[in-house]
Amino acid sequence: MTQSHDRKSAILARNLTLTLGANGPGGDGATSILKGVDLTVPDGQVVALLGPSGSGKSSLMAVLSGLERASGGELSVAGADFMGLSEDQLALARRGRIGVVLQAFHLLPTMTAQENVMTALELAGVADAAARAAQELAAVGLGHRLHHYPSQLSGGEQQRVAIARALAPRPALLFADEPTGNLDGATGAAIIDLILTRRAETGATLVIITHDEALAQKAERIIRIADGRIASDEMA
Ligand SMILES: Nc1ncnc2c1ncn2[C@@H]1O[C@H](COP(=O)(O)OP(=O)(O)OP(=O)(O)O)[C@@H](O)[C@H]1O
Ligand SMILES: [Mg+2]
Repeated sequence: MTQSHDRKSAILARNLTLTLGANGPGGDGATSILKGVDLTVPDGQVVALLGPSGSGKSSLMAVLSGLERASGGELSVAGADFMGLSEDQLALARRGRIGVVLQAFHLLPTMTAQENVMTALELAGVADAAARAAQELAAVGLGHRLHHYPSQLSGGEQQRVAIARALAPRPALLFADEPTGNLDGATGAAIIDLILTRRAETGATLVIITHDEALAQKAERIIRIADGRIASDEMA
């Protein structure tokens, strides 16, 4: 630790663009999806990302989490220059540092809850992955479901496994893309509270995409996206 109490930047984006299409950037079929995003997120901040369908929220999250390459601009995430890294270096930089929770839970269907979480820990090079996975599942209230397969779990339970899996390696950053989109209201609210509780316990920076204004109010900061740009950015 240094003397400074300033928060460092978890995300630093400058004039970030994303252009996709059949003929490549600039080609006839190219679609401009992100049109110059400037964004600084300090370490540990909880950010809600809102905006109409098709505005570019998931695309922005894909770029910020290193799943997709930006077409232009500058991007530094968790201290790594995402624009300058090779594919291998990018994969290495993401590993254990960035967790992602999606609307559809994306658990591996042939693995139990414990194995799903274990796999993430092993990839991150964590020792004693089986015991750690059991602890992480207990922390989301699933200590009694370790050996169940995804098909044997409810939607809310599957999402809790996905949260345990994303947070198990203690990522500096957690991204969640409409994590309650497939859940009923009460289950969704419980999942949000769980994400916020576990986030607070682990200190991760959190970027959460939602359509839910009430949920957004629980964040420290609310960013609205419209047509591939930041339309507003306010502290809640
Ligand atoms: N591979 C692709 N090629 C071309 N256009 C794409 C591609 N992927 C996404 N798009 C377009 O990019 C725009 C932004 O999509 P994105 O999924 O980021 O929106 P979103 O804000 O997450 O919407 P939603 O709330 O519906 O999830 C959309 O118009 C979409 O059609
Ligand atoms: Mg989306």
